[in-house]
Amino acid sequence: MICETFPTEDALAATLGRLVVDAVRRQPSIVLGLPTGRTPIALYGELIGLTREESIDWSGVRTFNLDEFVGLSRADHGSYRAFMDTHLFDHVNVDPRHIGFPDGRAPDLAAECDRYEREIARARGIDLLVLGIGANGHIGFNEPADALAARTHVARLDEETRAGNTLWFDGDLRRVPHEALTMGMATILAARAIVLMATGEAKADAVRAMLDGGVTTRLPASFLQLHPQVRVMLDEPLAAAIRPL
Ligand code: F6R
Repeated sequence: MICETFPTEDALAATLGRLVVDAVRRQPSIVLGLPTGRTPIALYGELIGLTREESIDWSGVRTFNLDEFVGLSRADHGSYRAFMDTHLFDHVNVDPRHIGFPDGRAPDLAAECDRYEREIARARGIDLLVLGIGANGHIGFNEPADALAARTHVARLDEETRAGNTLWFDGDLRRVPHEALTMGMATILAARAIVLMATGEAKADAVRAMLDGGVTTRLPASFLQLHPQVRVMLDEPLAAAIRPL
């Protein structure tokens, strides 16, 4: 894994924004895998800014998001789809038919997971997948466990993960769903290139274990060590917290 440190979150977002925009320009029909959460908000701001300044055309771009809460749809303000509309999709000319999302309201969730995998396969897989990481080492909603699921599946969220998501539910933990649909580890590892972004001291232990520990289902992000094309982008406060004293 190539690991880079940036002085601030904004500097990280500027570099990653440039990387994504250059990739879109080089390959107008690129398939992007996208995360939600606090970390990528600055990245999406960069993408919107660069798109305006440089007239980037998103009409051929295909996107697949990593995850969605069970029971929520884009009409729900806490859904990840609503997040993506607000922070990116409403501001670039991506074709709504090219936006891939697992449907958290599907009546048959297992069938919905299969459909999502088929849709990704039909798009010939993900060219560039952007990931965040949880303080417990989760990627997507693949939480630490004795065994991890390979493909898109229904995941039960750790309490720590639910608490980290109260921001999207007006601070009310009771409203944060207990389950989500998420790409599985094989879905993630099948992406041709991966960039993981992480900021803030609270993630230092998870990032250290991801970079230097063994590959373990107890830290799902450690599986990224098996992928040949992973770039890890950190901000200085996080990097400083993992540096040996
Ligand atoms: C969300 C996702 C999660 C987040 C992780 C970090 O789509 O895939 O794995 O990347 O929970 O979230 P933040 O950025 O809010 O710390």
